[in-house]
Amino acid sequence: MADGNVMTNDDAVQRAREMIAPADRVVVFSGAGLSAESGIPTFRDEGGIWERYPPEDFATVPGLVRTFLVRPDRVREFVWEAVRDVTQAEPNPAHRAIAELEQRRSVAVVTQNVDGLHREAGSKTVHELHGTLYALQCTRCGRELDVSRAELRDLADRLVQPLPKLGARTRLIRLILPMVRRCASCRGRMRPAIVFFGEQLPEEAWSAAVAACRACQAMLVVGTSALVHPGAMLPALAHDVGAKVVVVTLDPTFAVSWADTIVVGPAAEVVPSILQAVR
Ligand code: OAD
Repeated sequence: MADGNVMTNDDAVQRAREMIAPADRVVVFSGAGLSAESGIPTFRDEGGIWERYPPEDFATVPGLVRTFLVRPDRVREFVWEAVRDVTQAEPNPAHRAIAELEQRRSVAVVTQNVDGLHREAGSKTVHELHGTLYALQCTRCGRELDVSRAELRDLADRLVQPLPKLGARTRLIRLILPMVRRCASCRGRMRPAIVFFGEQLPEEAWSAAVAACRACQAMLVVGTSALVHPGAMLPALAHDVGAKVVVVTLDPTFAVSWADTIVVGPAAEVVPSILQAVR
């Protein structure tokens, strides 16, 4: 932390409230830990997604294509788990407390999550830095198409069964075909509107996020290891313009130069406890 004070967690919660209360403009910067209590696993915690599905094989387009060629059933399993978890999840009390704060403050949510839970909780200004599972985007003309929860559920249902040994790749392509359908405008290939490693962030979301961070007076950073760039530089940006930066994490070793206070605890408890006191 910036000032190196030693505090109990209750002190830290109180301090977090005092830092956010005077701010008219608040940014919430969220990561996978925010949705952990909605049942979606995080990436880098023990037993997390990248432990079971190494990012070099599943989180880059070339890696995923290679894995598809060699072990198609692992790709099926990866997509099935991700889609199933997201379609089964509901916003938790932290998502809802963040959405409710909009009634009392100007709030911009900048999220790395692709699960749509901020919007579902009612947040209106949401910049999805890593895209969303609830949309497809044309790889040629950029046109976006909404995907419903029902469509994602259908996809998860189709992917439950392991692939047959013979013709596994063809079968998998057939199962995911609606997600890589032809664009109605240009006939280009569509794909889920999510960002893989090595890809550009959606430009609009990124510029809006930077503008919000430059203009905010307080930032609440929730459930992120803050390791993935460029998103990870946003809290430092807010700190540099004088915003108070409050972190909520489960990681007791979390240490960064830009945090003004760190509260260690589950987001679904800690975030409402901080924000509901901000009247
Ligand atoms: P990580 O898995 O890297 O970090 C999750 C953080 O949330 C950790 O610091 C945990 O301590 C904390 N955490 C876990 N459960 C929590 C809880 N219940 N309450 C509060 N905190 C909790 O996830 P992200 O930082 O979101 O990108 O990962 C960033 C990006 O890396 C993802 O968007 C994804 C991934 O690779 C792409 O795939 C492009």
